[in-house]
Amino acid sequence: MEKKVISKAVINRLPRYYRYLGDLLEKDVVRISSKELSERMKVTASQIRQDLNNFGGFGQQGYGYNVEYLHSEIGKILGLDKKYNVIIIGAGNLGQALANYADFERRGFFVKAIFDVNPRLVGMSIRGIEIRLMDELEEFLKTNEVDIAALTLPKTQAAQVASDLAKWGIKGIWNFAPTDFNLPKDVTVENVHLAESLMKLSYRLSVKEKEQQEKEQQEKEQQ
Ligand code: NAI
Repeated sequence: MEKKVISKAVINRLPRYYRYLGDLLEKDVVRISSKELSERMKVTASQIRQDLNNFGGFGQQGYGYNVEYLHSEIGKILGLDKKYNVIIIGAGNLGQALANYADFERRGFFVKAIFDVNPRLVGMSIRGIEIRLMDELEEFLKTNEVDIAALTLPKTQAAQVASDLAKWGIKGIWNFAPTDFNLPKDVTVENVHLAESLMKLSYRLSVKEKEQQEKEQQEKEQQ
């Protein structure tokens, strides 16, 4: 059978569906029509149907979607039916903030250790998660199953650390350092760059500002 390729745009929308359905579940909503879901999410109903049809639909004509079932099926597609052990490399502002965020555990991501080169941080712990010296990393990876490494260390150090992690068997890198890596194909990297998101916001703000100026200009001309 031909394997269906799911577009990146669809994959990008799935976490949002998952989050909305999770909110509905918390409110004990049992079922929802694609129209209602579309109104809440501000996505067209046909977009929702199209997106979910990629995975076999899940909906029933005249019934809509069973919220619990759809939530759990999307969770499976996103791999959230598994548990992931995570380590954080770089225990500075961002690394500590991530370690402090307990909600990742609710999604199945468990931070097991934080590593840093700064000996002054060693022995400290955040929410019971110990900060260890980088020298211990290789040994730690031999004796603990780790699925994902979050990189919250300086850009200049990130590529070397990422390549060591790949060599020691890490398959998932959640990269916050503003740099790209050249890693073996079996290593999956997800980059998170808040500055890029801010640039998108500034673009949208400047487009709106231009539209407003054009509108004001037209109004002036009509007077
Ligand atoms: P920070 O200076 O507070 O923390 C960096 C930590 O990394 C320090 O504790 C330092 O000792 C440690 N470190 C240095 N070299 C290391 C190595 N080779 N191995 C392990 N640990 C090492 O910096 P902050 O603010 O936490 O930022 C960390 C990184 O995240 C930077 O690359 C920064 O540009 C990036 N960043 C990215 C954001 C994003 O949206 N992607 C947002 C904020 C920061």
